[in-house]
Amino acid sequence: MDAINRNENELAPWRSPLARALHRNRSLVYSRYLQLATITSQGRPANRTIVFRGFRTKTNQIQFVTDARSQKFPQINHQPWGEACWYFPKSREQFRLAGHLTLVTQQETDASLAQDRLAMWQQLSDSARLQFTWPEPGQPRCDPFPEVAPEANQPVPNFCLLLLEPSQVDHLELRGEPQNRSSYTLQADRRWTVQALNP
Ligand SMILES: Cc1cc2nc3c(=O)[nH]c(=O)nc-3n(C[C@H](O)[C@H](O)[C@H](O)COP(=O)(O)O)c2cc1C
Repeated sequence: MDAINRNENELAPWRSPLARALHRNRSLVYSRYLQLATITSQGRPANRTIVFRGFRTKTNQIQFVTDARSQKFPQINHQPWGEACWYFPKSREQFRLAGHLTLVTQQETDASLAQDRLAMWQQLSDSARLQFTWPEPGQPRCDPFPEVAPEANQPVPNFCLLLLEPSQVDHLELRGEPQNRSSYTLQADRRWTVQALNP
């Protein structure tokens, strides 16, 4: 087992294989889609596809956007632990990233997080922003839907930035005979350790 990284703000060691996978699969738009699992208040798993929106600057936090009215919101508030599962078809590798989830809402008091929420809203396309004006997700269908995109500079109240801070990463590469599997763990002293595993 190798111990690497003394500082949690340094690039975690799994960032370089993940960056390589993103690069190798860049021609596939769906390689930026992954599944994020959370836990319901009944202790059951809940899973959905979500778009990778890059890393938060100078951190190892993965960014997503979501709607504060969606089912995942109370789940994360109740149990802020999640796992992302991300398969890259071209390079045939899987990353499972487990860690703490943070919802950055309109009520955010941390100035840097509030700024990142605003910046993320401004980066979205009009069609992505429009979805946040649709009627309440998961409720019985009620047409018609709004068609005019909201203000590009000011997030709507239900817009959320969602952050996943991985503390355990499992990387499986199907290519290779035999396959390769590595486990990355953030230890209590904030160092990452890496262990090669049997696939
Ligand atoms: C390709 C694809 C990308 C999606 N991207 C997002 C996303 O970035 N954020 C999001 O909240 N939901 C996204 N969704 C919708 C979710 O999968 C899910 O249906 C929705 O968030 C409601 O989930 P919940 O009831 O568990 O909260 C996407 C769905 C698909 C198929």
